[in-house]
Amino acid sequence: MRQHPAVADAAVLLSEGNGTASNLSAFAELASGVQPSAEQARQNAQQRARQIEQQIDGAAFRALMEGADRVAILAMSDRLRCDGLFTQAASRHSLEEIYQATGVAEVHQRLLRRWLDGLISVGALQQDEQGDYHSLIAADAERLQQCWQEVEQWEQRAGYGSQTLHYIRVCSHCLRGLLRGETDVRGILFPEGELSTAHAAYRDNLVSRSMNNIVIAAVTTLAAASHKPLRILEVGAGVAGTASDLVPALAEYRPEYWFTDLSEFFLMEARKLFAAYPWMHYGIFDMNEDAVKQGMEMNSFDVILCCNVLHNACNAGEVLAQFSSLLAPGGSLVFIEPFRRHNYPLLVSMEFFPELTGFTDLRATTDQTFFTREQWLCSGTLNLAT
Ligand SMILES: C[S@@+](CC[C@H](N)C(=O)[O-])C[C@H]1O[C@@H](n2cnc3c(N)ncnc32)[C@H](O)[C@@H]1O
Repeated sequence: MRQHPAVADAAVLLSEGNGTASNLSAFAELASGVQPSAEQARQNAQQRARQIEQQIDGAAFRALMEGADRVAILAMSDRLRCDGLFTQAASRHSLEEIYQATGVAEVHQRLLRRWLDGLISVGALQQDEQGDYHSLIAADAERLQQCWQEVEQWEQRAGYGSQTLHYIRVCSHCLRGLLRGETDVRGILFPEGELSTAHAAYRDNLVSRSMNNIVIAAVTTLAAASHKPLRILEVGAGVAGTASDLVPALAEYRPEYWFTDLSEFFLMEARKLFAAYPWMHYGIFDMNEDAVKQGMEMNSFDVILCCNVLHNACNAGEVLAQFSSLLAPGGSLVFIEPFRRHNYPLLVSMEFFPELTGFTDLRATTDQTFFTREQWLCSGTLNLAT
């Protein structure tokens, strides 16, 4: 045991009891710090990221991302103006007036506050000392149309993939209904239960492809370094955006891979997709609920994988603490999360998912959905013990 990398020290104590009975007690202290295989996985992931970066037309990609921000900012501004707000140079509105004019559903008031915050942070809106908002940038359908054309041109140069942009464009046309809670964003992401828009968002566009590739580099490194088949728990595996390529890449290592989600629908699809891999397992798992009550064993997984799902944690610190208990000594949490303070395309699309509410961690006071990178790296943010 003392030679195992996850064990700092171990001892066995034999104590003589009365008569013929004696007691054998065993003690093990877990090693702290990063395991060599985890460090190797981190390095290989970084190397993959550098390779991907070299293959991308950086200038076109940056221009595309800036263009996508611009269209989302203009779409927000256009929406507010269409609701009769900020139409005069001297117009000033309180938050309450903006709620009234937009007819925003209570569940999306937090998101609307983030819109205002996001607009202020790029100078597209001003707020005075009384807290009233004024001087919103001009926007109209014609300007929006022109900006979308620029975005499409950059998309072709960057090779990003047009379907995700199309989805954002459709959402930005539906902002009135989305804000009022009359249009369900899930109907736009999964039109008539069809998955290709969601595949584009989580698997096929340039960013998702790249991020998934980096995850594959990390997890296959862990699998290659392990002396036994890995036990992997994928949480919120959804439309298999990451698993689609990760599972075949792991085939030679035959891990015990648990593909889990809240929804039986995704499990059904995954069973078909991964029928050729007998080591795949499927289950319903809600990370916000007690894992043991859901049949999980503590200290039993080598890898927990969360791709674009950790923001669904009601309390990120509690969910991470639960993951820490589920991981075996030396285990790794691998995750993908957006971390920009204001991700404008998400503010007009994905952030309308109704379940992104009721946070009980720091986000309860900041209106955020996604933690920033600095917040992830600061254990105080998440209220973690270590
Ligand atoms: C944004 S999607 C990401 C899908 C997938 N990871 C991918 O990359 O294709 C988030 C997924 O997390 C699932 N989810 C939401 N809340 C969850 C929770 N509390 N526990 C587990 N999964 C959850 C949703 O059902 C959805 O499939």
